Amino acid sequence: LSDAVPSTCRMLMVGCGAMGGAMLERWLECGLRADRVTVVSPSLRAMPTGVHVVPAIPSASADDGFDLILLALKPQQLPRLAETALGTHAPGLLISILAGVTEAQLQPLCRAGAVVRAMPNLPVRLGKGVVGLTSHSASATTREVVSELMRPLGLVEWVDEDRFDLVTALAGSGPAFLYRFVDALAAAAVARGMPQDSADRLALATVEGAAALASQSDLSPAALADRVASPAGSTREGLNVLDQENALKRLLHRTLAASERRNRELAAIAAGEGNA
Ligand SMILES: NC(=O)c1ccc[n+]([C@@H]2O[C@H](COP(=O)([O-])OP(=O)(O)OC[C@H]3O[C@@H](n4cnc5c(N)ncnc54)[C@H](OP(=O)(O)O)[C@@H]3O)[C@@H](O)[C@H]2O)c1
Repeated sequence: LSDAVPSTCRMLMVGCGAMGGAMLERWLECGLRADRVTVVSPSLRAMPTGVHVVPAIPSASADDGFDLILLALKPQQLPRLAETALGTHAPGLLISILAGVTEAQLQPLCRAGAVVRAMPNLPVRLGKGVVGLTSHSASATTREVVSELMRPLGLVEWVDEDRFDLVTALAGSGPAFLYRFVDALAAAAVARGMPQDSADRLALATVEGAAALASQSDLSPAALADRVASPAGSTREGLNVLDQENALKRLLHRTLAASERRNRELAAIAAGEGNA
C-alpha cells in the first residue's frame, strides 16, 4: 500500500458484500496482507484465501487490537450492532461506508481514535472508482493516512458532511445511473433495428471511449459535446432532443434529489426512527 498504510495493518471488516468485497479485493491486489484481515459475515460467505471469516464481531482482547474497523453492512443492519462486542474495541480508526449514516451516529459505536465516513463506488475494484471522504474527528495526519488507504481504489475527494448524501447519490449510485443510460442507448438502437448484442457492444464501447477521452481532455464534457456536434450536423439534431427544455438535466436533477432524500431516510432507519 504505502508507508502511511503498511501492508501489516490489522483490519476488521463488519460486513463484506458487493461493495466491501470490491474494496477488499483491490486492497489485497495492492499488497494488503490477507492474514491481517478479519471479516464478519453472519453467513460465513467465501472470502479471498487467507482472510479470516467469523460469524459475529469478536470481543476485544489484548492480541486483537485492530488498527482499523471498516463498517460495510447496510444502513438498515446498523441497529443490530448495538447488541454486539463492537463497543469493546478501541481501533485507531473507524471507517463507515454506510449511505446516509452520520458521523454523530457512528461515534458511540466504539472508542475509535477517529471516525471517517467513506463513500466508494463499485469501480474501486479496478482502481478506477471514486471515494468521497468526510470527517469532523480526524486530524490532518489521520486524514492523510485515510487518503493513502483509499488512493489505490481511485479518485479520493474530501467533502463537507452536509454534502455527503449528494456525493453518495452522484458517485456511490452514479454507476447505476450510467448503466441505465448505456442500456437505454442500446435499447434505442435495437428499437431502430440493430441486433441486441451489437447494440450492447457499441453502446458500452462508446461510453468507455468517450469517458476516457473526456478524462484526458482539457475541455469540459459540455464543450466536448459541442465539439462532436458540428453546426447543422446529425449529432446536433440528436443533442437538440436531449437539450429540449433541459430534458436530460431535469431528469438527472430529479434522479439525484430522490437518491439524496433516500440517504437521509436511511440515516433515520439506522437510528431506529424510520421503517425499512
Ligand atoms: N453497492 C454499492 O455500489 C455501494 C456503493 C457505495 C456504498 N455502499 C454502501 O455499502 C454498504 C454495503 O452495501 P453492499 O451493496 O455491499 O451490501 P451487501 O452486498 O448486502 O453486503 C452486506 C454485508 O453485510 C453483512 N451483514 C449483514 N448483517 C450483518 C450483521 N448484523 N453484522 C455483520 N455483518 C452483517 C452481510 O453478511 P453476509 O456476508 O452474511 O451476507 C454482507 O457481508 C451499504 O451501507 C451501502 O450504503 C454500497
